[in-house]
Amino acid sequence: MCGIVGYFGLREAAPILVEGLEKLEYRGYDSAGVAILSEEGIEVSKCKGRLANLENRLMENPLEGNIGIGHTRWATHGEPSDVNSHPHSNAKVSVSVVHNGIIENYLRLREWLTSKGYEFLSETDTEVIPNLIDYYYKGNLIEAVMKAVSKMEGSYAIGVVCSKEPDKLVAVRKDSPLIVGLGKDEYFIASDIPAVLNHTRDIYLLEDKEFVVLTKDGVTLLNEMGETINKEVYHVTWNADAAEKGGYEDFMLKEIHEQPKAIKDTLTSRISLDHDIVLDKITITEETLKNIDRIYMVACGTAYHAAVVGKYVIEKLAKIPVEVDIASEFRYRDPLITEKSLIIVVSQSGETADTLAVLRDGKKKGARVIAITNVVGSSASREADDVLYTWAGPEIAVASTKAYVTQLIAMYIIALHFASLKKTLRQDEIYNIKKAMLELSGLAEETLKHKDVLQKFASQTYMEKDMFFLGRGLDYAVSMEGSLKLKEISYIHSEAYAGGELKHGPIALIEKGTVVIATLTQKDLIDKMVSNIKEVVTRGAKVMAITIEGNKDIEKTVDSVIYIPETLDILSPVLSVISLQLISYYMAKQKACDVDKPRNLAKSVTVE
Ligand code: F6R
Repeated sequence: MCGIVGYFGLREAAPILVEGLEKLEYRGYDSAGVAILSEEGIEVSKCKGRLANLENRLMENPLEGNIGIGHTRWATHGEPSDVNSHPHSNAKVSVSVVHNGIIENYLRLREWLTSKGYEFLSETDTEVIPNLIDYYYKGNLIEAVMKAVSKMEGSYAIGVVCSKEPDKLVAVRKDSPLIVGLGKDEYFIASDIPAVLNHTRDIYLLEDKEFVVLTKDGVTLLNEMGETINKEVYHVTWNADAAEKGGYEDFMLKEIHEQPKAIKDTLTSRISLDHDIVLDKITITEETLKNIDRIYMVACGTAYHAAVVGKYVIEKLAKIPVEVDIASEFRYRDPLITEKSLIIVVSQSGETADTLAVLRDGKKKGARVIAITNVVGSSASREADDVLYTWAGPEIAVASTKAYVTQLIAMYIIALHFASLKKTLRQDEIYNIKKAMLELSGLAEETLKHKDVLQKFASQTYMEKDMFFLGRGLDYAVSMEGSLKLKEISYIHSEAYAGGELKHGPIALIEKGTVVIATLTQKDLIDKMVSNIKEVVTRGAKVMAITIEGNKDIEKTVDSVIYIPETLDILSPVLSVISLQLISYYMAKQKACDVDKPRNLAKSVTVE
């Protein structure tokens, strides 16, 4: 977690760093800080709380200098506080460091450094880094950073400045993202591209254990042996505006409304009625597929919920058994991975620590790994055997919306591709599914129009402490996602249950006035779901139903209904989830919650 930035150039560094940090606040926002390097030495300004606190501080006490590093924090080691905020420095403040990741052996390093006379002020793991660099500094900063890094275990992307070498900024990464921005006479480092997009579109995507040195002469890239390396420049084609609010009140609302486009973009060039499915970065052939006896779909949070939908559709269309698991569970449960396994990891950021651990372990065990990710150049995209990008564009709001919908699209594409390779579907069946997929973007637009009922429902129920989500089959999978959205942005406790499971325990919680959101889009399961809804209505529940246009009968059973356009049953999660996202959004707005930055959360979970 956390976001780091660095600037080396001719302009004042502090405002550029703060602007970059604004773009990275999705990675954490419990404290922020900058260190500015000038001929006079290093000056640090940092404090607990949102970036605005740091900005106020810098307004009162501006820091001057053209080189600097900055950090926005999501606390892991040590509570959010001024002293635990980054940058961290050695006692003489000759070395300052910003860090994203976790130094797993920091306690041992700290003890060892203490025995050498070093003192520590914070509870953080990061504080060992400037002290290690200071310990190894013998007149060459790069050598000292390399030596320090060779002693560190865990994950890191770090930016380093040193007062003894006021003409450079050094950075390195391992298991945490880091990019380098190449401007005109100015250079940047950052955890993510939006942080530098106002200044440049030319980027180096650093690999693990690659070092970068920014000086007035330009950017030097080094491998871990200290040898100079060359890299291709990645030119960012998407617009900086794509990472701005574009007239919407919040990023989340903007991203919900971007879903029709995101669906279209993810389908474009891959699905067409005139040609076979085109997946240029997936090279699995009919032969490879014959050798695969099981698929493991692994992910966290919202991406996991997309994987649950993936299990249903891949089993249904391609007839391959699929196990779906939460990455943090999967990696420690000795799963039976063999060379005949195919692992599909799903990750918007492509940087989630647990998901990456599954990817790496799977590869070690000889499994083939496909990554479904939204971030070009992310660790998942680089390390997997095959990649399917979701073209959702940058997702800034912490709560995932458009990434989830495009992950669903990715599931359909893969299921259809495998079904076509395995010939488990006839050509006309494939054609019909493709046709329906190509209509989804327009239907998503339609779904977004039904806001009034959702807003009214939210205004009547936002004070509730608990709610239930019910569904069967794919509607259960999508209910899990609806429940997560509600919890994370409106802080209302909720649970999602499979309709048939309710009477095995949870129905004991239903009483007069309990709010239930029931999704019924799977035609062959509608009658069963109606029975389940009646079970809760009889016990006093107030029910809002999300169902397909034409299912008017439901009005006799429930209190309010939202209709979504009809599509193939397997595709309906793409539409029903939009209504669920909007319910959560309006509830959160009623409660005046910060929907883009829910408490305790960060966008990219790069720690275990
Ligand atoms: C919830 C949410 C998270 C992420 C999860 C995995 O709205 O966004 O649950 O889905 O942290 O993140 P990625 O997809 O980046 O691996």
